[in-house]
Amino acid sequence: MENINFEELKQEYKDLLQSAEEASHKAYNPYSNIEVGAAILTDSNKIIKGANVENASFRLTTCAEQSALAQANILGENNFKAIAVISSLEEVVTPCGACRQMLFEFSQRSGIDFDVIMSDKNKTKIIIVKVSELLPLAFSFKNFKS
Ligand code: THU
Repeated sequence: MENINFEELKQEYKDLLQSAEEASHKAYNPYSNIEVGAAILTDSNKIIKGANVENASFRLTTCAEQSALAQANILGENNFKAIAVISSLEEVVTPCGACRQMLFEFSQRSGIDFDVIMSDKNKTKIIIVKVSELLPLAFSFKNFKS
């Protein structure tokens, strides 16, 4: 998979990644100390942000991607061009399994196989894939029909 750097991104993805970085600074992360930010670009060119929200009962932690997706749903903005994710870690942050399933749900709901932009902390290693590439053989609500 190809790594690109910030300068190689198109302008709307540069803006999106910057928004994700801003959002990461809003993380509630007293247990891991890791900041994760996500920003969704909608088809109407709105940016919707999320950050990780941890809990003393660790399994209740909400990931940045999940918090951005829930916010998009509340705003009635469910058609996405892309989501960007960045963290305070040196390595490229990639969505956890649960987030991949949630991203997949929104792509199935809208019929858009949108881009997932993943970055390292310094924005020097950036990977872009489609949701379908992140979760091959995904379980879908379309399976309910057979
Ligand atoms: N985290 C995210 O917000 N998104 C991911 O895709 C991976 C993990 C958060 C959850 C927790 O607050 C911290 O990163 C460490 O797992």
